[in-house]
Amino acid sequence: MTNPITATPNRVEHQLTDKGYVPVYTTAVVEQPWSSYSSDDHGVWATLFERQQQVLVGRASDEFLRNQRAMGMTPDRIPKFDDLNAVLRKTTGWELVGVEGLLPELTFFDHLANRRFPVTWWIRKPEQLDYLSEPDLFHDLFGHVPLLMNPVFADYMEAYGRGGVKAHGIGPEALVNLTRLYWYTVEFGLIKQADGLRIYGSGIVSSKGESIHCLESAAPNRIGFDLERIMRTRYRIDTYQKTYFVIDSYEQLMEATRPDFTPIYERLAQSDSYPAGNVLDTDTVYHRGTGEGWLNDGDV
Ligand code: PHE
Ligand code: CO
Repeated sequence: MTNPITATPNRVEHQLTDKGYVPVYTTAVVEQPWSSYSSDDHGVWATLFERQQQVLVGRASDEFLRNQRAMGMTPDRIPKFDDLNAVLRKTTGWELVGVEGLLPELTFFDHLANRRFPVTWWIRKPEQLDYLSEPDLFHDLFGHVPLLMNPVFADYMEAYGRGGVKAHGIGPEALVNLTRLYWYTVEFGLIKQADGLRIYGSGIVSSKGESIHCLESAAPNRIGFDLERIMRTRYRIDTYQKTYFVIDSYEQLMEATRPDFTPIYERLAQSDSYPAGNVLDTDTVYHRGTGEGWLNDGDV
């Protein structure tokens, strides 16, 4: 028997934010209700897992692929958080905690600052294989968790959480700057390997369409990582990104974000933001996008 209390996401209300109406869930940590997953749920996992495994060969970063194998996620059934935690804890000391969905910012930062990664326990429906507007288990587990096995990236995520708590105390404009950094690195980042550009951003690796688009399409810009530039750049939440930023290494990301951001936030409070698709004279341009298919409205 499926327990109706644990088998549906416990959505509390919708809240109006700068990104439109977003669902808000209970902030509690929940036990993964593993035995309540239906065969459809396990089937969605299997389909997406196998499809992305193929798409990501030669597209995802070597570190992502290597760590994904090392974690032991398999297509046959939705992984148990407890099993993954046994591996993660001894590798980098991170731990997955089950949640109902997107968390309020401060709650999210507090988890990261303590090396806890919140994972949505429910998975999308079979008719949502290609797109859904909020993170689910596939995005969170398949997309985010492998790189938590990388010691440098694991430290970056913790530092980001601590930086988030601090930015939250400084004010909403600082949070906007920091959120852009997360978006353009953790969610949509590319990395330059000796053999070419590869994906490490979770929002890309969990999407078949964007995995191909971000590397192979002529439309988007591909620009070298630049901290303040990224913090000023608006982004897309409902279409593919117009611009992707490329890091040289996870160490570069860690080092560039080590300084105290407080003076940067002060400086940026006096500056305008850039539209998502702009290319600046100061950019290191790997590829200047043609802009094909871009919508003018909707940068956030
Ligand atoms: N150095 C940042 C600060 O002072 C914290 C941070 C580290 C933010 C890593 C993001 C990523 O706020
Ligand atoms: Co995500």
